[in-house]
Amino acid sequence: MSRKIILDVDTGTDDAVAIMFAALHPDLDLIGVTTVNGNVPLENTTDNTLRVLDWIGRPDIPVFAGLARPIARLGFPSAKHFERDSGDDPHGSALPIPEPRSVRQDTGAVEFLVETLRSATEQITLVPVGPLSNIATALAIDPSLTEAVDEVVIMGGGHAVTNVTASAEFNIWADPEAANMVLSAGFGRLTLVPLDATYQALITRDTCTALEESATPAGIAASRFISLRIDAYDGTVAVDDAAPVHDVVCTAYLVRPEVITTRSLHVTVDTTSPLTIGRTVMDTRLKSTQKPNADVAFGADPQLLADLLLDVFTRPPSAPATER
Ligand code: BDR
Ligand code: CA
Repeated sequence: MSRKIILDVDTGTDDAVAIMFAALHPDLDLIGVTTVNGNVPLENTTDNTLRVLDWIGRPDIPVFAGLARPIARLGFPSAKHFERDSGDDPHGSALPIPEPRSVRQDTGAVEFLVETLRSATEQITLVPVGPLSNIATALAIDPSLTEAVDEVVIMGGGHAVTNVTASAEFNIWADPEAANMVLSAGFGRLTLVPLDATYQALITRDTCTALEESATPAGIAASRFISLRIDAYDGTVAVDDAAPVHDVVCTAYLVRPEVITTRSLHVTVDTTSPLTIGRTVMDTRLKSTQKPNADVAFGADPQLLADLLLDVFTRPPSAPATER
């Protein structure tokens, strides 16, 4: 039986790859996608998400728009050295695939999360790969929602690796209060996939070529999105002609947990210091007295990830999905 999941995204290029993976893998049942302000403004993350689902022939998967800003601030924290993840254009550019024909649901993302988790008859996996504003707001409305969630798998944070500032990773930094709410909500299982792991699972231009040659909608789009990332990351990662595709490591983990290696640690987020705001403070001390609240990925397997992308994206598109 396939695993019911909800993806929470700020669609940019790597979110798009994660959405396609979740929508097309036979072991996953993507029951809905919630969008949030992040890589690009909410209107664009929602439009991009609709584009991706239409492009791969899954307009049946509903899209729900969420928060347009962080939960406790009027906007992102200020940062002297704010830099963007190279593969995602912070100026609201649309993904290089046709405009959507589908439209988002009238129901908002937070309402969808609350109603779906309250009425769930089987456990649901939450996979947030953007700022955690939607998830935190749903928890503020009903903290018991954690009981309907078997695992929350988050792309975010960084211990030895950061990107948006010298201290922080973008998703956590963009809404640090939301991140702390989610980390302390008491989920039964919380897996955190930080940059320390995603930068080990680089996808190469050779893999993009193979994806493109498959001539499937997902293969063509994945090649296009990841090539954009490779161009943008050029010269900044350990392997030439390669780039991290952060968010898809989370969805790949759901079907092949061995794609990452984890350590159980206590993780919390700095929400105050101008210098380190948004930093995930991971207690790696051997004799820490803090109870772990997350399984944190520090290793990832680039070949296994590439094989999974090729396996899922090069399959001939199946018959049109039945309307939900
Ligand atoms: C995260 O930020 C965004 O740029 C990506 O979509 C990813 O979710 C990486 O820091
Ligand atoms: Ca993202």
